[in-house]
Amino acid sequence: MKLKRIKICVIGTGYVGLVVGTCLAEIGHQVICFDNNKEKIKKLQNNIMPIYEPGLDKLVIKNKQAGRLSFFTEIKQGVENSDVIFVAVHTPTQKSGETDLSYVESVSKEIAKTMNSYKVIVSKSTMPVETGKKIKEIIKAYSSQNVDFDVVSNPEFLKEGTAVKDFLYPERIVIGLESSKAEKIMRQIYCPIKAPIIVTNIETAEMIKHASNAFLATKISFINAIANICERVGADVEEIAQAMGLDQRIGRSFLKAGIGFGGSCLSKDVDAFVHIFAKNGYNFKLLKTIRQINQVQKENFVKKVKDKLQNLKGKNLAILGLAFKPNTDDMRNAPSIDIINMLIKQGAIIKAYDPIAKESAKQVFKHKITYCSNIYETVQNADALIILTEWDEFKDMDLKKIKKLLKSSKIIDGRNIFNPKKMRKLGFNYSCIGRN
Ligand code: UDX
Ligand code: UDX
Repeated sequence: MKLKRIKICVIGTGYVGLVVGTCLAEIGHQVICFDNNKEKIKKLQNNIMPIYEPGLDKLVIKNKQAGRLSFFTEIKQGVENSDVIFVAVHTPTQKSGETDLSYVESVSKEIAKTMNSYKVIVSKSTMPVETGKKIKEIIKAYSSQNVDFDVVSNPEFLKEGTAVKDFLYPERIVIGLESSKAEKIMRQIYCPIKAPIIVTNIETAEMIKHASNAFLATKISFINAIANICERVGADVEEIAQAMGLDQRIGRSFLKAGIGFGGSCLSKDVDAFVHIFAKNGYNFKLLKTIRQINQVQKENFVKKVKDKLQNLKGKNLAILGLAFKPNTDDMRNAPSIDIINMLIKQGAIIKAYDPIAKESAKQVFKHKITYCSNIYETVQNADALIILTEWDEFKDMDLKKIKKLLKSSKIIDGRNIFNPKKMRKLGFNYSCIGRN
């Protein structure tokens, strides 16, 4: 199919929406991005990125200069001048575990009131099954009778830190819809991307997203549970994961033991899935256990630090890594938040360094910790070095220099970035996850 340039509006220029809008422009479409956060839009209009995502800034500037990408704060402008509207506003979790759809609902109302001709409304944000039905009802209720539209579920599978590559080279594109007219348009949108396209109904597409994230969380908690036994029986979880991963049915990815999963998606999607199942009369015990293992992993890690230092009161701890994973500034549900709060509660004094997430971390920890600008300043005179995010620069740090700077040679590695034997040979009192 030859590329047909589609006029697209993306609502929400966050970690997902900004990548989606920019990449849709990159593959040749005409894209208007909207956000109700005027600060964000102003930054983007001045080529300043509101988020850190490798490679995104160059693509935004390139596509703005090519006239395929623009940013507005008036939703009307975007909706009236587009044929397809992607909704990528956030869908946070409420205390009950239920997804807060208030932003999606308010945006759907605004779209309905503004629609002046046939539109395809695409939900990009992760939404619980049956949300598509809700959006349809809202738009029907608030749009003028003679305007036709279709609702589509097109969940994203972007991993922060590799989101641009994940969009342009996906392993699959999932599209849930109800009409061949919408299908033709969606296939035109994605025709430049070489990937299997799964066309199904809306509910199935919504479930594919949640099921995928819940399974990824399951793999992580599974290997973390294995890691906890390894320390007791003298086995090595990295070698177990390697051997398991050679079985194509299991696969090597998402078997990295550590301090557990964070981020805005996995935790939220596990909660949402448990809630969706409960609403439909099924107690998803497995997922509740996955969630519980993830929480206990952080508590176990704090205990490991305490055991190594006997007592945390007044101890100076150097923490390397705050973001929930490398190559992002995102602190949402980062394991570092609970871990650092538990360490402070036991009297520890924290100095921390993260190559990119320093500003985001300041919103979270405020003045509770000291923010350093490099590894060695952080480690200077610390009673122990703690690694919480596996940034590449930490793997290359000068270990001889670290040994001199530390008050004692204690290292607790929450992401298994070093080899225990090598660390012991260098004279470190080194602990990690699931290895001896
Ligand atoms: C969000 C969801 O959290 C995720 O589950 C889903 O898969 C994709 O959308 P994310 O992009 O990370 O992910 O959210 P966030 O970075 O908070 O961006 C949402 C953007 O929407 C923000 O910039 C916010 O200002 C904007 N927004 C929100 C609107 O423009 N209008 C609204 O009514 C609400
Ligand atoms: C995830 C999904 O991977 C992606 O498909 C979906 O669209 C959004 O949610 P993201 O949250 O950006 O992506 O990051 P991901 O790479 O999945 O890591 C999530 C968390 O799991 C991080 O805290 C990471 O440190 C942790 N993790 C990941 C592990 O602890 N072990 C692993 O083997 C993999």
